[in-house]
Amino acid sequence: MHCYRYITVQRRRHELQSTNDSSSFTPVLLPQTSSCVLRGSGATVLWVPAGGHGISRSHRGPPQRYRHQTRSSHAPSHGRGRGRRRCVRRRPYELQKIAADMFGMEAALYVPTGTMSNLIAVMVHCRERGDEMIVGDLSHIHVYEQGGSAQLAGVHSATVTTLSDGTFDLDQLISKIRHGYPDPHYPRSRLVCVENTHNIQGGRVLPLSFLQELRSVADNFGLTVHMDGARVMNAAVALGVQPSAILQHCHSVSVCLSKGLGAPVGTVLGGSKDFIQRAVRARKALGGGMRQSGVLAAAGKIALSDMIGRMKEDHRNTKSFAQALLQCDPPMYQVDLTTVESNILRFRLRDAHMSPAEFCERMAGIDEEEVKALGQGVQVLMFPHVGGTVRAVWHLGISEEDTQLAIQKAHFVAHQHKLKSIRAA
Ligand SMILES: Cc1ncc(COP(=O)(O)O)c(C=O)c1O
Repeated sequence: MHCYRYITVQRRRHELQSTNDSSSFTPVLLPQTSSCVLRGSGATVLWVPAGGHGISRSHRGPPQRYRHQTRSSHAPSHGRGRGRRRCVRRRPYELQKIAADMFGMEAALYVPTGTMSNLIAVMVHCRERGDEMIVGDLSHIHVYEQGGSAQLAGVHSATVTTLSDGTFDLDQLISKIRHGYPDPHYPRSRLVCVENTHNIQGGRVLPLSFLQELRSVADNFGLTVHMDGARVMNAAVALGVQPSAILQHCHSVSVCLSKGLGAPVGTVLGGSKDFIQRAVRARKALGGGMRQSGVLAAAGKIALSDMIGRMKEDHRNTKSFAQALLQCDPPMYQVDLTTVESNILRFRLRDAHMSPAEFCERMAGIDEEEVKALGQGVQVLMFPHVGGTVRAVWHLGISEEDTQLAIQKAHFVAHQHKLKSIRAA
């Protein structure tokens, strides 16, 4: 029988183990599936993260009492809830309070996704149509969010060149600020966005000195600073500091509870009280004000309380995989170890005869030769990435043992490729 293992960017196996969490719904692991179960108060909620339909069905159907508490999106709901339902609704507030304290910010807001969270931040910071934000040209906000800030918020973007460490040149930033405003030819520069860790640049951690200097430039020119901190907890772990030590330099932050933190869903947006009050309105307008968020927040609380510490493991596994690629015989992989700082690895293939897409396909596929050589089939999901690189990401559910299997597979693929080239020559 083949054994299938996954290292994956898109398909994740979420493991959320039982804890002493004070909420009455406790996520537990459903092995080998993409599902997670929330248990408590006599109800069992099957939670299907990818492609699921939001909230939740029980195996046997939740008790009537629970249905009333959660109010699925199909249930009629009029006016503000009372009684039991309130205890479920209260829970996002606990999560938001925990998050705000952790971020060192006045308030926080639970939203469905990182993309929506970033968009809300842009909408709140840039209040007038035609306001401008300055972003890195390789930032997630600029590259992967469909220009939502322009489409939906009427906000114009100017870009600065993203450097290989995820920062940008502050003189270039200053040159992009619209010093001509209020001349009617120009938009008004309001906001600068940073990303930490930097996704496209391979999980690079922004240096605290950069953030400090950036904030001082922003203060000088009356700009606000938003951090797309989808993976800022990885940055905090990599630097060995509290998240608030990073976030003290920002006016707002968006932190994903999924990704490395392993919650099935959710992002928390942090900022000042006034910022969050306005964010609540923007979230509602974008359709993100979910009645069901109390149940989802139970997993989010565990993500913040229990999952940050274990990120070290992801960073360690990422590094050992990177080192093993360099030691591969035959030499097929190019890695700059100095750039491996968190849970994302980008590497190149030395042989132009194998493209990143072919390589990823090979890592994901299993053939008989492999089963014979390794004693089992190992399926590793990676991603052909920008600039001819391959991207691999470690997260909850990818163990040291999985990493060793992925190393074996990468070495096997290199070996097989060499034999093929020899035969073809
Ligand atoms: C840096 C960064 N920001 C924002 C997002 C968007 O998050 P979501 O997929 O929850 O919308 C991602 C997703 O990969 C990301 O990597």
